[in-house]
Amino acid sequence: MSSNHPIGIFDSGVGGISVLRWLRKEMPAENFIYIADSRYIPYGDKPREFIEQRSVFLTRFLLAQQAKAIVVACNTATAAAIATLRSMFSIPFIGMEPGVKPALSLTKTGVVGILATTETLKSQKFEILTNRFSDTCEFVVQDCPGFVELVEQMDLQSQKARDLVRRYVGSLLDKGADTIVLGCTHYPFLLELIQNAAGQDVRIIDTGRAVAREVSRRLREERLLCDTDNAGTEIFFTTGDPEKAGQVIGRLWDTPVEIFAIPAEVTPEKHPDPFP
Ligand code: DGL
Repeated sequence: MSSNHPIGIFDSGVGGISVLRWLRKEMPAENFIYIADSRYIPYGDKPREFIEQRSVFLTRFLLAQQAKAIVVACNTATAAAIATLRSMFSIPFIGMEPGVKPALSLTKTGVVGILATTETLKSQKFEILTNRFSDTCEFVVQDCPGFVELVEQMDLQSQKARDLVRRYVGSLLDKGADTIVLGCTHYPFLLELIQNAAGQDVRIIDTGRAVAREVSRRLREERLLCDTDNAGTEIFFTTGDPEKAGQVIGRLWDTPVEIFAIPAEVTPEKHPDPFP
């Protein structure tokens, strides 16, 4: 495995771009390959086994592109599949986890709110995480059907978006939360609406930056950090409609991007010259 090989990233859709932003800041020289599994979005209401199968499929595709490490930039897929991925493949996997620990040091009411997908909140991984800290703090949770779709449609300002955000955030505030953890990688794109609905005194926690630092630490430890000073590149793939995904990713990434379609089901072949 060469340190100049790319880092693979996947999510059910464009949510992982909120993590990629931090990865790019933290590691300017790395090459990234991003896959949006748009054909099957959202993951949050699908069975665990299905998400696990998709994660294995996407990992195989990324390995065929010579990924040296994979960032599972999706809380739902991390909860459903990261243990299986680590047992099946030998490269480093870094996943997402709701930022419960930083929330503990910030809350004054002792009530921490967590916004996440239904599947993340139902997962055993989430139960273990919150049980570890339940002596010191109360957790209140809210699943957010509709949030992922708002981001995928770039509907980040409309009245409909505001109303839905107010409803979910309001339910956490009503239960006394003064700190809110974003437990899904799509939600940072709704940060402004979430902060407005919560009020400026409520702290909102996004784990993207901490994950990017962890990826860099892990690669250094494994001697896999890229050893050139050149600016790195990004390549984007989708299992859905490349034109649609390209428009959304281009806006979220702030630069027009080229996005390639990959088949959603068949055994992945190596894509022609991603990094010639
Ligand atoms: N972005 C994802 C997460 O972090 C998945 C959302 C979904 O597809 O439901 O959980």
